[in-house]
Order: sequence, then C-alpha cells, then structure tokens
Amino acid sequence: MIDFNPVFFKVNMKTLIVKKAKKVNGEIKAPGDKSVSHRSVMIGSIAQGKTAVKNFLKGDDCLRTMEAFKEMGVDIKEEKNGLLVIEGKGLCGLKKPSKPLYLGNSGTSMRLIMGILAGQDFEAVLTGDDSLSKRPMKRVTEPLRLMGANITGKDDANFAPITIKGGKLTSINYRLPVSSAQVKSALILAGLYADDVTRIYEPAKSRDHTERMLKLFGAKLDVEGVCVKVHPGQDFFGKDIFVPGDISSAAFFIAAGVLVKGSKLLIKDVGLNPTRTGIIEILIKMGADIKIANLKNEEFEPYGDLIVKSGSLKACKIEGDLVPKAIDEFPILMVLSCFAKGVTEIKGVSELRVKETDRINSMVTNLTKMGAKIRVELDDIYIEGVDKLKAARVDSFKDHRTAMALAIAGLTCDGETVIEDTECIETSFPSFEEDLKRIVTP
Ligand code: S3P
Repeated sequence: MIDFNPVFFKVNMKTLIVKKAKKVNGEIKAPGDKSVSHRSVMIGSIAQGKTAVKNFLKGDDCLRTMEAFKEMGVDIKEEKNGLLVIEGKGLCGLKKPSKPLYLGNSGTSMRLIMGILAGQDFEAVLTGDDSLSKRPMKRVTEPLRLMGANITGKDDANFAPITIKGGKLTSINYRLPVSSAQVKSALILAGLYADDVTRIYEPAKSRDHTERMLKLFGAKLDVEGVCVKVHPGQDFFGKDIFVPGDISSAAFFIAAGVLVKGSKLLIKDVGLNPTRTGIIEILIKMGADIKIANLKNEEFEPYGDLIVKSGSLKACKIEGDLVPKAIDEFPILMVLSCFAKGVTEIKGVSELRVKETDRINSMVTNLTKMGAKIRVELDDIYIEGVDKLKAARVDSFKDHRTAMALAIAGLTCDGETVIEDTECIETSFPSFEEDLKRIVTP
C-alpha cells in the first residue's frame, strides 16, 4: 500500500522515504526494551512458577526467543490484556526440541540460549539468518566448552549452525576480553548449572539486565564492580514484571527532538538502567537539553520520562566505560555528531564491526553520501560537524539501527532521503514509522 503522508511513505515493503521535518513535538512512548523482553522469556522459562510480563516487545527478535522456548516445551501465552504469561519449568524442565531452533537475526537469542542449553541434558541445534550466521560465536562457545559443554559448528564452533549438547558443568573464573552483556549473560546462565561458584569479570561493565532479573526472582548472585559471582543449583521463582521502554529505541526520538529546530518532546517510561544511559550522558556532554522526570522502580529496572528540547551541540570524546553503556546507540550518535561543532572522537569501537552489520562501515558509507565529514582510523571514528546533511539514496545494510538512524538524519535534509531495505526495523521497533509520523510536523 502506498501511504501519501508528506513526511513518510512506503513505495513498497522495503523502501522508506523521509522528508524534512519542520518540528518534532508531543508525547510518545518507546516500545518495550528488547534486552529485558528476551530475558523475561528465558529466565521466566527456567524459573519455578508463573512470570507475567507487561509491555513485552513483540519485535521479531524477541518473538524468536519466545518460539524457541515454546519449542522446548514451555507454555507461553499472551492474555487478552496484553500480558505475556510464561509457565516456568524450573532449571532442568526444558525438553529436547524436535527441530533446529531458528533465531532469525537475533544475536541475543543465540548467545544467551547457548548458556541455558549448556546445562540441559539434551542436544539442540541453533540456526539463524545470513547476518546471524556470520556473527562470531566463539566468544560464547569457547568458555562454555571450558565449562564442559559439547559444542560443534562451523570454524570450530565460531559460526551457526551450532549444535550443543549440555549436561553437568564445571564452574570457571573467566575474564571477558571485551565487555559484552551477551557473553556475560550466557556464562551467568550456564553458571546456574555448574558444580561450584562461577566468577565472570569484564573490562568495563556492560548492561546488567540478567543480573537484575535473576536477583529479583530470588537467585543467589553477587555483583562486585565488574565481577559477577553465580551460585549454582538454587531454585528461583517467577514474578510479575514491567518491561520499561527501550532507551535504544527512544534514542531515535531523542535525536529527532535534539536535531530538528523548535522541537519539544516528552518520551514516557524510558528504561534508565545506569548501564544503558550512555546516550543521555554523551548528549548532555555535547550540550543537549534533556531532563529526566518521574524516576520509578529503582531496585529492578529503573525508568522515567525524558523531556527533550532542540538545541545546538558541541563535539566531544566518547571512549572507555561510555562505549558499552551506549553500544547500540553509535549509528544515531554518528548522525548527531555530524551536527556538533568541532570534531567528535569515537574511540575503541571495534565491537560495532560485529553487530547485525559492520556499523562503522554501514554508517560511514551512508553518511558520506549525505555529505558528512568522517574519517576512520582502525576502530576510531572522527566526525567533523557540518552545517547540513543532504538527502541521498542510502541503504540499511539490513541493519535496523542503521535504517532508523538514517531516517532521523533524513528529517534534517532538504529533499527526499530514500532508505532501501528497511524491513529489518521489525526486529526491534515494529511501530517506528507510525510513531515518528505522530510526532513529526512536515
Ligand atoms: C545485548 C547486548 C549487546 C547489544 C545487543 C543486546 C543484550 O551486545 O549490542 O543489542 O541484550 O545482552 P554485546 O553484548 O555483544 O555487546
């Protein structure tokens, strides 16, 4: 169907056309957090009793996780009021799947599920789409093998399809070479099945949703700085949980509010877990006008409202501990940096090369077409602010966050920005286009 909205219209399922916005204003909610939604199904499935999840993200990635656990015998249903109800099977109650578990585009599903499967007494096969089949899995399969899991797959279990046969595991002390919540979480989950205490250390703290949810459910876990200590073999119990809005999705609205002159936006119920708020810290450093109000639920997953006003930005340096805190926000941060006075330095972001696509390449290629001044040296990116970007025909590289970042860039350009291959947005933000239309004045 062709939608003749003056800001957006879809020519077909794949192409998004974006025109200049006069302003962005109103009140909006971001969709449920993807990371917390995944974990609600995974941890809910291996808990005892019922977990009821409010505001579960029904994006493709989380639906893959849900299907995988259904396939392993877990009863998961959506009630009429929208609650997702999971009947937990306990740590060892999953059943052998009758077919390979297809996890689509979702790295979180594949890596975390491996941690759980490492402790099960059956064999399972994990597969994914083209992008997921090219993403490195050794970071998880190697430590899980050290714990005793039997894992095979392409290139010595670095790439899917992965076959995993679990069982009784040996505890380990493991230092992650790079900060990664997916690897840390896989090892925490495997640690629940080990013979003794497992200790996991990270170079800098990554998102801690797994730790928070397991603690809420009553599992015994100690967190001391960048070390997580997992005590195995205890029962924990399902709970009613609220999934806050995804700050990684809200980031696109925040950027639209900051960049489009004359804008004022209220974004409600955004997840503000301090391991995820890098985007806000960075934008405040750059001089953006962002306020937080109504902070709630601090002991589990804190959330609150964001009030964003447009304004000018100045360049800054992004490195070190800020990198894992903003790991999914670099595509939109690169767009924002194009409008900051001076040269923004983004340092040590090699992890962007192994996301749904190589996000350094996807963003540099596209933003250069739009007139940005960007230089890459190994894994450091230097972006010099310009007065304007220009509309161009750009490509998502089949990566949802590249596609959405380019759409926001398009709101600032004269003429039409044509973004190819935007179906991927479904993985994390199915209502992106609709929500943006609601707040944009053409
Ligand atoms: C995620 C962790 C991050 C992030 C991904 C979701 C998670 O990946 O990029 O979108 O839910 O644990 P890494 O842990 O590989 O950095």
